[in-house]
Amino acid sequence: MISSEEFWNKNSQKYIAKPIKDKNTYNKKLKITEDLLSSTDRILEVGCGSGETAIYHAKNVKHVLATDISAAMVQHGIEKSKQAGLRNIDFKQVAIEDLLEEAERFDAILALNVLHLVNDVEASLKIIYELLHDNGLFVSSTPLLLEVNPILKILISIMQKLNLAPPVSMLSNKGFISLLENVGFKIEMTWKSSKESMFIVAYKNGKKFAEF
Ligand SMILES: C[S@@+](CC[C@H](N)C(=O)[O-])C[C@H]1O[C@@H](n2cnc3c(N)ncnc32)[C@H](O)[C@@H]1O
Repeated sequence: MISSEEFWNKNSQKYIAKPIKDKNTYNKKLKITEDLLSSTDRILEVGCGSGETAIYHAKNVKHVLATDISAAMVQHGIEKSKQAGLRNIDFKQVAIEDLLEEAERFDAILALNVLHLVNDVEASLKIIYELLHDNGLFVSSTPLLLEVNPILKILISIMQKLNLAPPVSMLSNKGFISLLENVGFKIEMTWKSSKESMFIVAYKNGKKFAEF
């Protein structure tokens, strides 16, 4: 089977050119996230793809580190952020699995449409947890493919054999929430944003109380 890195490098132009399927849902996710961020936050996005979301949030926070396993995706993000004249965003080619080498810890981490693509979801969640400051915010949107149709599993494995699909993890709603809780996240909000996707707002060790 083709590796994730190879698959996403090969398919980056196609993915980037594809219009967002449901613009209203995408905008709602941006707005929910934006309302939870503050101007002093240093944030990390894993699996940032084209960089569109990272670039959007750069105006709301102090600094964004946008990361992706694919060099082609990262290159696209760098060009787009230059065009936008942004100075508070950096892009880096790195897989989630290798992120613990980052010395920095973050106020918020975003993982949008990527956690179903890692080999070991729990291990990746542990890395994300470790990379957050206490009370740090974790926003994820994850296709939970076991919720869709059992036949999908067979279809995906055929496509993988033909190098037409990347490696994926088959997750259920209940299973994914258990993984988050096992790792230690306190879930603040869940929203079934589409037939297959779950948008979740969670905190490391719970939400920080407002300071008076
Ligand atoms: C479906 S795209 C989502 C991109 C973007 N987050 C979005 O919502 O449009 C998945 C992205 O995750 C990246 N990716 C896949 N496996 C990864 C991994 N193990 N670590 C980091 N990025 C990964 C791919 O290169 C791709 O850019």
